Amino acid sequence: MSALELATALGHEEVVLVRDEEAGLHAVIAIHDTTLGPAAGGTRMQPYANLEAAMVDALRLSRAMTAKAVMADVGRGGGKAVILGDPRRDKSRALLQAYARAVERLDGRFHTGPDVGIDARDVAVLARHTKHVSHTAEGAKVTVADLTAIGVLEAVRTVARRLGSELHGLRVAVQGLGQVGLRLARLLADEGARLTVTDVDEGRADRAASELGAEQVAPQAIYDVSAEVFSPNALGGVLNDATLPRLRVRAICGAANEQLEEPRHGDRLHEAGILYAPDYVVNAGGLLSLLFELGEIDEEGIVRRVKGIGVRVDDLFARAEQEAAPPFRVADRVVEERLAEARARRRAR
Ligand code: NAI
Repeated sequence: MSALELATALGHEEVVLVRDEEAGLHAVIAIHDTTLGPAAGGTRMQPYANLEAAMVDALRLSRAMTAKAVMADVGRGGGKAVILGDPRRDKSRALLQAYARAVERLDGRFHTGPDVGIDARDVAVLARHTKHVSHTAEGAKVTVADLTAIGVLEAVRTVARRLGSELHGLRVAVQGLGQVGLRLARLLADEGARLTVTDVDEGRADRAASELGAEQVAPQAIYDVSAEVFSPNALGGVLNDATLPRLRVRAICGAANEQLEEPRHGDRLHEAGILYAPDYVVNAGGLLSLLFELGEIDEEGIVRRVKGIGVRVDDLFARAEQEAAPPFRVADRVVEERLAEARARRRAR
């Protein structure tokens, strides 16, 4: 399927291709759905094989942002932007300025922030040229990654309860010890969980394992670890034909976006009796932080709100159980229902 066909199939409202040869900027801004509010989503910068691959990434990620925003009840729609290039080599002030001008031209239909390859310093540059960016204010006690990790922790707690267990003594295999994974691992260790950890950055894995008293395995071996919960906090697409037959866990719950390579992998997990907590419900703490960044909610309030992710996951599991359906299918349906209701209300006005 071509990127254009995919945009039609996923129901995108608007996909903007940005080119500024002088600044060396090639970017795609995908606005998936603004029914519930302006599209929110980070800006990612990474090398892509070609423009088509970049568009496909932006289309998938922006659709997931709509789902995340609906489930988190955040009064926003879904969007995502990708800048093509190697952030270490190709990121320049001119490129960021040109990109910021493109965001500004959208006049608030898209609100963005940091993502892979774009950090808070870059956002500070963008902010000089557009109002429609934000990141956690300096001096704030909680960062976006803290909030994401707190949300995932509460989701794991809910998963543990469903398995008839608690966090204390729960065996969790943690893949990825970056901004979110390490924070999550620390929170889990504080609660007495027994961890097995891995990261492709060996130094990072060594440090985390010794700090947390965790077992450490090679990156590829994480799929073979016998544990209650597998927690993906690195890449998307990790639940696929190659990894599923290897899993020796009872549940999956982590921060990584787009964990299922394809929906059918979620169905297979369900058939195998492995409880999969849908990624976009679990990792919504990052999006919710927007409310804090924009001053709509204070620090205490945002932490409380993010902790509510545990209850949301539990409600979802309860409904899925009633319907004997996989929770990720139910979540997708809830998203569609809520959007359809909102569209109908809008038409009626
Ligand atoms: P990060 O880039 O800080 O950390 C990712 C870590 O995974 C790095 O330490 C990297 O070395 C490691 N890694 C990469 N490939 C690996 C592999 N094959 N096996 C083991 N480790 C591997 O990223 P961050 O911010 O922690 O995000 C992690 C995931 O969570 C991403 O999928 C991201 O999209 C998602 N997410 C992050 C949010 C945030 O607030 N940072 C919010 C919502 C989702």
